[in-house]
Amino acid sequence: MKVISVVNQKGGCGKTITAVNLAAALSKMNQKVLLIDLDPQAHATFALKKESDFTITDILEKTTQNQQIHQKDIYREVSPSLYFIGSSIGLASLEHTLSTRNDKIDVLKKFLDKAGNNFDYAVLDCPPNLGLLTLNALAASTYALIPINTCYFSLRGTAILKDILGMLKEHKQTAPGAFYLLSQVDLRSSFSRIFVDKIKDELGNLLLNTIIRTNTQLREAASGGQHIFDYKSDSRGACDFMSLAEEVNSLSSETNWTPLFLRKNGLSEVYVVGDFTDWKKNEEFKLKKIGDDLWNINLQLNKGQYRYKFLTGQDWIIDPYNKKTEDDPFGGKNSVLIVK
Ligand SMILES: Nc1ncnc2c1ncn2[C@@H]1O[C@H](COP(=O)(O)OP(=O)(O)OP(=O)(O)O)[C@@H](O)[C@H]1O
Ligand SMILES: [Mg+2]
Repeated sequence: MKVISVVNQKGGCGKTITAVNLAAALSKMNQKVLLIDLDPQAHATFALKKESDFTITDILEKTTQNQQIHQKDIYREVSPSLYFIGSSIGLASLEHTLSTRNDKIDVLKKFLDKAGNNFDYAVLDCPPNLGLLTLNALAASTYALIPINTCYFSLRGTAILKDILGMLKEHKQTAPGAFYLLSQVDLRSSFSRIFVDKIKDELGNLLLNTIIRTNTQLREAASGGQHIFDYKSDSRGACDFMSLAEEVNSLSSETNWTPLFLRKNGLSEVYVVGDFTDWKKNEEFKLKKIGDDLWNINLQLNKGQYRYKFLTGQDWIIDPYNKKTEDDPFGGKNSVLIVK
């Protein structure tokens, strides 16, 4: 099962609309999808009119207590192939309880590892902060999908989020591949068009090609308790979310996206250089600066084993987040990456 967190600590940038309608679009492509509302505000739960007595709060609580969860309690069917687990305000106090545990960021993953056999995708609607619920989501995810709207702050705020992905990589040896999604874009406005071009330059291949345009019917669907395909399947919103699902599905059918990070002060540029670049510097393999001293690239490689290093000016550095190394012919070390 592929797990996608829809995440951005900035409020109102389109997380819930994206999570609900991406999940619905994936289900229309015959994928079996589990959508989970991980936000104590429970917006996704209201947007689908699926309030219930048994929520993600109960599931996480029972998981921490190693209690059995009955399958019939877990999922509400929304439409064919789309299943849902709702949230409740009680999730906020559960987050508090989690903070005292050693496995505080692994509880959701524990549940999803068990539930995973039944689904192709899980889509997680995260709250607008980087607390323990969001960390649980990221620790369980294959991809972090970061919606940004045409307000520059929605992008600037994501530097801390990328720091957290770096920390996950450091502590857990693994982090979800992060991709940005432009959302609520009004392509008729010249400001938006300029913004889109600027963001494309800034984010390069970290930005998905699909753009979610502003569409009132997306808002109407949510207030009427439906996803867009049940509300108006021939709308612009439905069309955009179908393109997004196709793009996400093509990303994830290639199991070979590997995020690499380097944290180092005072660098002006960083490249990853390895046997996949013939050990030459190549603009396609230039890392993006995503925080004060944090650099990132999502590598797309075919299955296989690769040797690489980071090249920063004149210095060759092995990947500090990758413990797997091999001797190089010059008496030093190369980092080794195995893409399965
Ligand atoms: N593409 C769109 N077209 C029109 N309205 C949209 C679009 N995307 C989101 N909206 C509206 O913008 C508002 C914020 O969207 P949404 O609730 O998805 O953001 P959020 O990031 O989940 O917010 P929060 O951080 O509070 O959870 C909602 O009223 C939603 O209906
Ligand atoms: Mg929301």
